[in-house]
Amino acid sequence: MRKHLVAGNWKMNLTYSEAKQLLSRIIDQKEKYSPSTEVVICPPAIYLASFSEHLRNHPAIKLGAQNCFHQDAGAYTGETSPAQLKSLDVKYCIIGHSERREHFNESYDLLAKKAKALLRHGIQPIFCCGEQLEVRSSNVYKEFIMKQIEESLFQLKPEEIAQVVIAYEPIWAIGTGKTATAIQAQEVQGLIRARVTKQFGEKVASEMTLLYGGSCKAENARELFAQPDVDGGLVGGASLDAAEFLQISNSF
Ligand code: PGA
Repeated sequence: MRKHLVAGNWKMNLTYSEAKQLLSRIIDQKEKYSPSTEVVICPPAIYLASFSEHLRNHPAIKLGAQNCFHQDAGAYTGETSPAQLKSLDVKYCIIGHSERREHFNESYDLLAKKAKALLRHGIQPIFCCGEQLEVRSSNVYKEFIMKQIEESLFQLKPEEIAQVVIAYEPIWAIGTGKTATAIQAQEVQGLIRARVTKQFGEKVASEMTLLYGGSCKAENARELFAQPDVDGGLVGGASLDAAEFLQISNSF
């Protein structure tokens, strides 16, 4: 279902005690902000079990993972399965983040498998796509992004893709302080929705939640979220500050 959603991607940041402090600050301050935005935090995987316990009495904050493997169980040392995430009440899982595509060579097919495995367990994938600066400059970024979506997500059935959240994250904007303009975000996100409409129909596409990510902050979120196809944000750096993160979630 299409909704306003703001997810914090903490990446590989914070020690356990720092992470617990940030979680407490978010829990303490959450009540002041709009209940109509789905607020998701994606801490490092090793903190998920403890966070799941902490959040049991705070259903307004949902738990997300930053990655998963696509098998349910077995001899896959170091990996985390969607079944294990489900057992911790994890509701979302980021897949295909540009950092994983770059450093861990994640392929289109692998991401399709991860999406399907998550959906089998009722976890919504937050599927990331986005182009490098060279691709943007050479003006083939639209084709590049569409290919990322087609090659992975078009392997899903209509009822599956309807559950996927897509995050458009131009790589040149991630962690650089250089946000895409609201017009640039809308251009790509409008195209994504149009492409999904063409492939899967109006109903599926209109129900999808599309996020923008890449130096999303309290100062630019309002303008970004005012765009018709920007339903929220995937927030990295700014999600490590409870007040700023919650302010972003209040920017609709
Ligand atoms: P950033 O990261 O907000 O720090 O640019 C976003 C992301 O990588 O998801």
